[in-house]
Amino acid sequence: MKFFVDTAEIDQIAELNDLGMVDGVTTNPSLILKSGRDILEVTREIAALVDGPVSAEVVALDAETMIAEGRKLAAIAPNIAVKVPLTWDGLKACKVLSGEGHMVNVTLCFSANQALLAAKAGASFISPFIGRLDDINLDGMEVISDIRQIYDNYGFETQILAASIRTVNHAYQSAMVGADVMTAPPAVIKAMAAHPLTDKGLAAFMADWEKTGQKII
Ligand code: E4P
Repeated sequence: MKFFVDTAEIDQIAELNDLGMVDGVTTNPSLILKSGRDILEVTREIAALVDGPVSAEVVALDAETMIAEGRKLAAIAPNIAVKVPLTWDGLKACKVLSGEGHMVNVTLCFSANQALLAAKAGASFISPFIGRLDDINLDGMEVISDIRQIYDNYGFETQILAASIRTVNHAYQSAMVGADVMTAPPAVIKAMAAHPLTDKGLAAFMADWEKTGQKII
């Protein structure tokens, strides 16, 4: 499973990238706002830092302007994936931009039918939002699972990018149902390392080690 980091904070991306945990990055207008950075500038820095796809989102609502914005974002670096919303105009933009050879990440996906349309429009990635579905008492993981089955039924190559990951369970379940990629905030990726039995075991080892009176270095 590939890990994308869902942030526009350069230092946090760099820390995880140094550990080999970053296969790509996703941003959105809210994350750009949170970073306080200029979208073109910060996207350029991220794309230079990581080897994998870096999603940068268009903000127009009509296809024509989305395509123009997408071309401008894609020109930043070869590893930019243009992010478009799952609207009819977004699908039109996806078809044109993917036809020009750009990676396209279709975002704000909340159903398997939407994902089917994105695949037919040539999306490189489909981003179903697990957390936001769970927020309204729907089953985000079931949507990921359904998309997996539909894509496999027909051999679609669009990668399922599990998004809106809020918990370590979302990460685990996405991997279990076969999402190709998950994009998660750095804190969730770090939390995957934590286990109370690891902490308990380490404390016991440290206590016993202290009693030996030895040193390794
Ligand atoms: C990623 O592409 C999405 O924009 C992001 O995962 C949304 O997450 P949120 O629902 O926690 O804002």
